[in-house]
Amino acid sequence: MMKKGIFISIEGMDGAGKSTQINLMKKFLEGQGFTVRLTREPGGTNISEKIREIILDKNNGEMEATTEALLYSASRAQHVKEFIEPALHRGEVVLCDRFEDSSIAYQAGGRALGYEAIKAINHFATGGLEPDLTIFFDISPETSLKRINSSQADRLEQEKLDFHRRVYETYIDLAEKNPLRIRIIKADRNIQEIRQDIEKLLIKLLNEI
Ligand code: TYD
Repeated sequence: MMKKGIFISIEGMDGAGKSTQINLMKKFLEGQGFTVRLTREPGGTNISEKIREIILDKNNGEMEATTEALLYSASRAQHVKEFIEPALHRGEVVLCDRFEDSSIAYQAGGRALGYEAIKAINHFATGGLEPDLTIFFDISPETSLKRINSSQADRLEQEKLDFHRRVYETYIDLAEKNPLRIRIIKADRNIQEIRQDIEKLLIKLLNEI
């Protein structure tokens, strides 16, 4: 596929404050004259949003980790083919709230399904499409858990903390292995400071293409 547009993904732990900044990024890039498509995973197309409902449904507690991993990648396959690639082909900017790195962090890391397996099903799903830039919103796993649930940690919460730590460590590992694509933004700061750092990254990216 001829790729003319720009593909940017936004990653981070739950509660990292991605959504505020994604909207600011959209405004900034539109100000630079781009058509910007905001989208999210799991989701972004009718079929992918239906898959999202299955994955996130609290009544589906019996879901196997492998099933979950395959559903995330199935949702991604549809999203790439139906939404992301056509937008890039038209020369648009795609801003995607989470992409493949989420599956590496949560399913390979958090659920401990292993890097190779998750990488393989995702490569099948995306055909190898990778973001031009990935911004990782860095907050500690402890802050993340506190923001999504402020109650005292019980046994289950503790399990959740271990899970969150594995997700976080996997993200950091990914960022270290892909220093050109994945840029870490310290997200435990005020909105304007974060915004300025992100705009610097965007300007750099726009100068490179
Ligand atoms: P969502 O409500 O969109 O969370 P957030 O606002 O933090 O992005 O729910 C998405 C959840 O799914 C989130 O906990 C991360 C998880 N996830 C995975 O485990 N694997 C994936 O591949 C993706 C895209 C998300």
